[in-house]
Amino acid sequence: MLWWELLVVFSGVFVTVGVLLLLSTRQRYKVFSEKCLRPPGPLITNSQQRDARLKRGFRVDRVPPALDAVVIGSGIGGLAAAALLSKAGKKVVVLEQHDQAGGCTHTFQNKGFEFDVGIHYLGQLHENSMLRVALDQITDGQLQFAKLEQHFDTVFLGGPDQRREYHIHAGKTEMAACLKKQFPGEEEAIDEFMKLMKLASRRTPLIAILKMIPYWVVRILIRTGLLNQISSVFRLAATNHSEVMCRLTQNKDLQALSAYLFYGVPPKESSFLINALLLHHYKRGAYYPVGGASEIAFHIIRIIQQAGGDVLVRAPVQQILINNQGKAYGVTVNKGLQQTEVYAPVIISDAGIFNTYQKFLPRHLQEEPEIQSVLGMVRHGMGSFLVFVGLDGTKEDLDIVPTNFWMYKDNDLNSLMERYCSLSREQVLGNIPMMFITFPSAKDPTAGIRHPAKSCMTLLTMARYEWFEEWEETKLGKRGPDYLELKNSIAQELLDWALTIFPQLREKVVMVEAATPLTNLHYLGAPRGEMYGAEHNVERFSPETIARTRPQTPISGLYLTGQDVFCNGMAGALHGGLLCASAVLNQILYIDLLALKLRLKHRRMDPKKTG
Ligand SMILES: Cc1cc2nc3c(=O)[nH]c(=O)nc-3n(C[C@H](O)[C@H](O)[C@H](O)COP(=O)(O)OP(=O)(O)OC[C@H]3O[C@@H](n4cnc5c(N)ncnc54)[C@H](O)[C@@H]3O)c2cc1C
Ligand SMILES: *[C@@H]1O[C@H](CO)[C@@H](O)[C@H](O)[C@H]1NC(C)=O
Repeated sequence: MLWWELLVVFSGVFVTVGVLLLLSTRQRYKVFSEKCLRPPGPLITNSQQRDARLKRGFRVDRVPPALDAVVIGSGIGGLAAAALLSKAGKKVVVLEQHDQAGGCTHTFQNKGFEFDVGIHYLGQLHENSMLRVALDQITDGQLQFAKLEQHFDTVFLGGPDQRREYHIHAGKTEMAACLKKQFPGEEEAIDEFMKLMKLASRRTPLIAILKMIPYWVVRILIRTGLLNQISSVFRLAATNHSEVMCRLTQNKDLQALSAYLFYGVPPKESSFLINALLLHHYKRGAYYPVGGASEIAFHIIRIIQQAGGDVLVRAPVQQILINNQGKAYGVTVNKGLQQTEVYAPVIISDAGIFNTYQKFLPRHLQEEPEIQSVLGMVRHGMGSFLVFVGLDGTKEDLDIVPTNFWMYKDNDLNSLMERYCSLSREQVLGNIPMMFITFPSAKDPTAGIRHPAKSCMTLLTMARYEWFEEWEETKLGKRGPDYLELKNSIAQELLDWALTIFPQLREKVVMVEAATPLTNLHYLGAPRGEMYGAEHNVERFSPETIARTRPQTPISGLYLTGQDVFCNGMAGALHGGLLCASAVLNQILYIDLLALKLRLKHRRMDPKKTG
């Protein structure tokens, strides 16, 4: 079709000219540089030194004067946005309600064991990957990652008497090859799935672009049907996973394996794109942060401080201050009976879309149609239930591995999830159909140095907030015997299940602690105990919702960052931070990042150039 090709050429020229004009006429912030990259320093294990940075308490005199921005929440989305702005020369304060920084990346200690909360394994960290380059920039190259084995996940499907074990391997070609070996006769389906996965990942930038171009342009593209002509990725995003997989294969086990990374939405209600991206995330290898997940916040905070900003904890933000012109100009922080106001021309929220719009904004603004219509596009995600298990012994003593385990009692993940979600609180016990098992200490090469002869295991499943809602007004540690009974019984059920796979650990369990959706509410400020913020259902990835859930908000001066802006995962939340900082600086940081990536690649190929 000639008109179509003409249009492509025309828009290509248009975009290039636009970008060149932007580049030449406006002073760009110099955010990224090769020069900031230093070889990683020695691991700091001294707890005083770590606490001085990760647990710096809020005090009025610690708030830097003449701030450029306030960030609410110190998850990776908040820290990344703050660090990027700091690199652009802005002075930023990050306010965190918990007693330590990091959000889902924080870790906690109990009886000498250290547990990570929301970082079990990461992908796309191979040399010079976009994620790696970005993380290096916001930590001056201080983060190190240990690669898991090529066989990074094991999936068990079916009840105890007919359990099938499948292995997932990383590797450009190995992932498909390993699946084909386990599913003879399904080669075509696997190839097709891999092809779609590749397409999803290659075209993800287009998803980000929907969040950057004016919303009215997106509306025109949708109405005229042009959007789906530009790329099939938008259709993949808005198609449910089961629909795509049913077209590829009738093999129930293979269908289950195509969506085994659970996040609370049955495949038939989830976006094919997101499931494909989650698996693709690990295609080039799975990694774990050396020194534990708290290293992430530990190194990013320095970048913010170096620019004159700070990250302060025990600083629960109550309200966003809005002036008569409807512009955000500060926040209030609750300190005991006192309220302190912190001012800045830019307010960024990493506390999620629901907290930001339903808790922080004055009531009359919450009712604004623009806010209501965005809120109407998203739902609260499902909660999580975690069991932290302390084990006596080294990983060699205990024979535990870095590989993660995903367990499902049935291969029909749709009916399994539906049944589970429809259970009442009384029915939960005895009916938990899925679980994730991981050994954080086995993944971190420094675990043995930091916590000698101690290992840990974490168990995870999804859980509904409603099962625990009765105790939402109670305080942490004082929720009463009924709550404890329920929590401990669920924990025991998961532990018993895990011990059927690892019977050698039975005598080695020395500590068990559990976390419910109410724990997420307390430590992560997740309003309904959400594990991953707003629900990742297929509606959330319709073009309209993608375009509307962007960093810019209907309130001038107020921006969103983190997982609700892009998607879950450390990578997803970091992209939220990149999009947010791009919006605040009015500069598409992806262009700068891409340029840096090319320079780094060039330099590696021609080491003489480094001088
Ligand atoms: C159990 C679990 C396991 C996970 N495993 C992985 C994994 O293996 N790999 C991976 O990539 N991702 C994983 N994730 C997801 C990943 O950790 C998150 O998607 C990501 O870290 C979210 O970052 P964020 O900045 O958007 O939000 P968060 O990290 O939730 O940060 C939000 C911050 O805002 C703060 N806040 C809230 N309200 C207020 C207030 N009123 N005032 C001040 N501060 C406030 C919170 O305390 C919190 O620190 C996991 C998540 C969970 C829960
Ligand atoms: C998934 O897509 C198929 C085909 O379009 C549709 O029939 C089905 O209702 C969808 N499932 C859900 C839960 O929306």
